[in-house]
Amino acid sequence: MDMILKTTDLCKNFKGQMAVNNVSLNIERNSVYGLLGPNGAGKSTTLKMITGILRPTSGSIEFDGHPWQRGDLTQIGALIETPPLYENLTAYENLKVRTTMLGLPDNRIDEVLHIVRLTDTGKKRAGQFSLGMKQRLGIAIALLNNPQLLILDEPTNGLDPVGIEELRELIRSFPAKGITVILSSHILSEVQQIADHVGIIAGGVLGYESQLHAGEDLEKLFMEVVREYSKEV
Ligand SMILES: Nc1ncnc2c1ncn2[C@@H]1O[C@H](COP(=O)(O)OP(=O)(O)OP(=O)(O)O)[C@@H](O)[C@H]1O
Ligand SMILES: [Mg+2]
Repeated sequence: MDMILKTTDLCKNFKGQMAVNNVSLNIERNSVYGLLGPNGAGKSTTLKMITGILRPTSGSIEFDGHPWQRGDLTQIGALIETPPLYENLTAYENLKVRTTMLGLPDNRIDEVLHIVRLTDTGKKRAGQFSLGMKQRLGIAIALLNNPQLLILDEPTNGLDPVGIEELRELIRSFPAKGITVILSSHILSEVQQIADHVGIIAGGVLGYESQLHAGEDLEKLFMEVVREYSKEV
């Protein structure tokens, strides 16, 4: 199997709490991987370690066949939790700040705005955007560097059903463009419809990982993992 990302026994300890406990993920190139788990399961913490926001307590991460290094972030795009936007700048200006920072050509701005369908927000400032528009702008930022691996933490947060359907189509179009996607969610139907691989995490433990087969009873699997690994709080 051609893996773009592998984690081995990844752990994150917050003051004695094992938020992520020996998580070994296998992400196949050009797949859409759904990381499912209830609130507090360790999804965001796992994704933050992959994107270098948090340092693992132990364990290792392999990217594209070599040990993860900071320079790999040129190949990784991420939207984790809420998008980091300059509220008083327009969509274009928010992206311009990043292209300047990353040394990317400005024509990339219109390309990503087109991909997320935010081409006609004109002079409107990001602070005045709806939740869904902010989310899309966050995805546009994550796409700017043309990443091989796109990490989206609960990307449909705050989107209406139309926005969710659009985003689903958008995400499904990525593997054909050579973009592997890892998305986290606690919504079973969402993962069922978008992902071709699924990992289920609860209480910091990855209790299940497999290719997603048609007609699979994800709810049953989810409940089993949650029952087995969720800690009493
Ligand atoms: N910076 C931090 N300091 C201390 N504890 C933390 C920190 N970040 C996360 N945690 C704890 O780690 C656990 C996992 O949190 P995490 O944010 O990874 O969950 P999640 O699966 O993303 O949940 P949600 O679906 O609610 O976003 C939680 O118990 C949380 O309180
Ligand atoms: Mg989270």
